[in-house]
Amino acid sequence: MQCFEVTGGARLAGRVRVTGAKNSALKLMAAALLAPGRSTIDEVPDILDVAIMSEVLRRLGCGVSYERVPGSGGGRLTIDVPDAPSTETDYDLVRRMRASISVLGPLVARCGSARVALPGGDAIGSRGLDMHISGLERLGATIVSEHGFLVATAPRLTGTSIWLDFPSVGATENLVMAAVLATGITVVDNAAREPEIVDLCRMLGEMGARIDGAGTSTITVEGVDSLQPVEYTTVPDRIVAGTWAIGAVMTRGDVVIERGVAEHLTVALDKLTDAGAVVEALPGGIRVAMEGRPRCVDVVTLPFPGFPTDLQPMAVALAAVSTGTALITENVFEGRFMFVNELVRLGADVRIDGHHAVVRGRERFSSAPVLATDIRAGAGLVLAGLCSDGVTEVQDVHHVDRGYPDFVDQLVGLGAVVRRTERPG
Ligand code: UD1
Repeated sequence: MQCFEVTGGARLAGRVRVTGAKNSALKLMAAALLAPGRSTIDEVPDILDVAIMSEVLRRLGCGVSYERVPGSGGGRLTIDVPDAPSTETDYDLVRRMRASISVLGPLVARCGSARVALPGGDAIGSRGLDMHISGLERLGATIVSEHGFLVATAPRLTGTSIWLDFPSVGATENLVMAAVLATGITVVDNAAREPEIVDLCRMLGEMGARIDGAGTSTITVEGVDSLQPVEYTTVPDRIVAGTWAIGAVMTRGDVVIERGVAEHLTVALDKLTDAGAVVEALPGGIRVAMEGRPRCVDVVTLPFPGFPTDLQPMAVALAAVSTGTALITENVFEGRFMFVNELVRLGADVRIDGHHAVVRGRERFSSAPVLATDIRAGAGLVLAGLCSDGVTEVQDVHHVDRGYPDFVDQLVGLGAVVRRTERPG
């Protein structure tokens, strides 16, 4: 089992660079399937999920290679897509990562059929696929679930109007990727507005797709007959940027987050200002500095542009070392407070009631061994460890590695004392 040994008392200070967003890069990789030929994607984070998605694409017949750019956290991914990709995904690979469901839309659109294993992913609550399925059915696909696979067939998808019950990121992405090669016009209403959706639509646009309204609740797609491969650069990771921003405030530090985009984090940065931090949007990044102990601020997670659910564990950790009491409300994933038990081991005063957490701040955490239960919870526990009175061992950090390339090196670069260790699992 891989662990991080995090020594408390550090003040994060200096510059840190953010590479491309995991949650975008994985979808851009799926989108490459829509055009035969060689696509290249830059600023792809060097993380396990990218390696898993690369393997998913290889099993579909693509040639995939990754060239790391030293010191950047990311690199260039080259994907060679065959004229006729395979349409069956590997069961064990797909089960390891939820984002692999995003090959469903492109495969049905391009090949007329797909057999995709029901995906796995983080333990943060039940994660339905009903909107992916009903949307594809409205586009004319027939979908059945058999032996752990979703099997979709559609000789040709036909444009239609789709109203999502909830602005699901994954469903919006899958449906847009399916609609770009459908006949006629598709309108996705109550679409997700995340920067990663805008990024995907921009790449699809450069491949020749006709898409209007990305970044709004109504996305209109006019289907085309074929798309071309592309050279594209992934949008910076706002969740990693937000993690550094919250880390700077928790440790009363001063961090310049290179390539951080302030407009992608408006609500989160506003909360940090309310907590007492100095937040500056710079030309190529964001500076976050904090003197003294932060004040508690209430947080409500919502789809973009609301406070991101992926930063909720860090928000709870921040409140736990702030003055006063905060009410943190989770509206996106019902299981996302599961990590709080681990934070409580560090002495946090948190009471959960349904999808609310009442957090009473204390001066610092009390170090203890804790378990990373998912990517973001793990990052939140590392930040908590930095504010503890000893050495906190965060166990099972393979989760953290799924979202944060070079996390230990970057923490050390900012002045923290953190090291990776291994112990029998
Ligand atoms: C993506 C991100 C994840 C982030 C989330 C919300 C990736 C790889 N992951 O996940 O990090 O936390 O957006 O910003 O990009 N739902 C249904 N039925 C569906 C689809 C979703 O009930 O068909 C529910 C989910 O269970 C969840 C909520 O809708 O409760 C939001 O899910 P969604 O926006 O789809 O998140 P993901 O795309 O899975």
